[in-house]
Amino acid sequence: MPHPAPRPFSIAARGPLAGRITVPGDKSISHRALMLGALAVGTSRITGLLEGEDVLATAAALRGMGATIIREDDGAWVVDGVGVGGLLQPESALEMGNSGTSTRLLMGLVATHPITTTFTGDASLSKRPMGRVIEPLAQMGADITASPGGRLPLMVRGIAPAVRIDYRLPVASAQVKSAVLLAGLNTPGITRVIEPVPTRDHSERMLAGFGADLTVEETGGERIIAIRGEAELQPQQITVPGDPSSAAFWAVAASIVPESDIVIANVGLNPTRAGLFTVLRAMGADIEEIDRRTVGGEPVADLRVRHAALSAIEVPHDLAPSMIDEYPILFVAAALAEGRTVARGAEELRVKESDRIAVMATALRAAGARIEEFEDGLTIEGRGGAPLAGNAHAASHLDHRIAMAMTVAGLAAIAPITIDDIAPVATSYPAFFGTLDQLTGQA
Ligand code: S3P
Repeated sequence: MPHPAPRPFSIAARGPLAGRITVPGDKSISHRALMLGALAVGTSRITGLLEGEDVLATAAALRGMGATIIREDDGAWVVDGVGVGGLLQPESALEMGNSGTSTRLLMGLVATHPITTTFTGDASLSKRPMGRVIEPLAQMGADITASPGGRLPLMVRGIAPAVRIDYRLPVASAQVKSAVLLAGLNTPGITRVIEPVPTRDHSERMLAGFGADLTVEETGGERIIAIRGEAELQPQQITVPGDPSSAAFWAVAASIVPESDIVIANVGLNPTRAGLFTVLRAMGADIEEIDRRTVGGEPVADLRVRHAALSAIEVPHDLAPSMIDEYPILFVAAALAEGRTVARGAEELRVKESDRIAVMATALRAAGARIEEFEDGLTIEGRGGAPLAGNAHAASHLDHRIAMAMTVAGLAAIAPITIDDIAPVATSYPAFFGTLDQLTGQA
């Protein structure tokens, strides 16, 4: 798929951040709301959907397989589903753009429908491993032909009825878990996923909310998720909470820029997603939760974040799944903290939209941080609150979170940091730069 022309962006310190902002809808929840809406019988209505490129790729794919999905004038999204088992053969390849979540979850859906689908993606997505979903879906009977290394483009010849499986996740991945559960929706009998390490549980929550027969048991530290197939899903009204992974950039920005004081409204705080806030607090961040409530079956609060002196931390490995998307911005916080932060046990970062260990090490070093790289993470000598030198170039490698993390690093840099391409930010956070201007008084 062609890429838009690269959009470079330069940023240096702008002074304190102030004001009250909202963040866009949660990306993980938005994908799932569209998918389950498309499989329900009847009309679901979604408010707060993230209108980023990744989620729009999911919507387009579901339309291509028969669901009716429209955006109303008030911003709500209305989905008329085809029913479990009712997805139609798409006329053309499903263009997944940059979105691993769209690809892996939709592969699960189509694997147990009697249709053939081709998945294509951009240069970043085409490097990412799909073997992790191909393996369980093939065990269920799907016939999947991938490009060398188990990569995109790939073709899924689905099967119905498929064969139920009990599948122990070999990697801590909510995408793999969700692919198997979604495949299980149209599979006779009970499909089980055994999760040795808990990962984000939005699929479980939402499947249960749509009326699927799903149970979760905890034994010996493992979670066993069981779904009864040939389910009928009931259409739902869904309110998508704000994305903690988007809020993370502002929480770190306000923490590291002196005199900042901001409120981030409506942030999802599902415990399987909130690891960064736990770590920031342990580093000394001043993050206050205001008005904790439940939105769309998920815990939510407004977060007031004020500048604070951060100190280094050894990030507990068991927190990795609950903050897996937040490491790039954590590395920025660590670069400004006092002392040596150790963030390891996170080798999955190497197979995200970019190799986030190598790419962040290179970008932050160029900006003046002292970093040691390991296969599974980084150690970072923090500057004890002193700003970064800046005067550096950072390559975003088609990775939205690298572009946003290095923008925040720029807010703590004396001379500008130039990011070669910020266009990928539109995959998850189209309003990011508008919010940046708002918080820094440049709107
Ligand atoms: C996601 C799961 C995570 C995360 C991704 C979204 C999801 O990926 O990095 O941004 O919505 O299930 P993995 O499951 O591959 O860790």
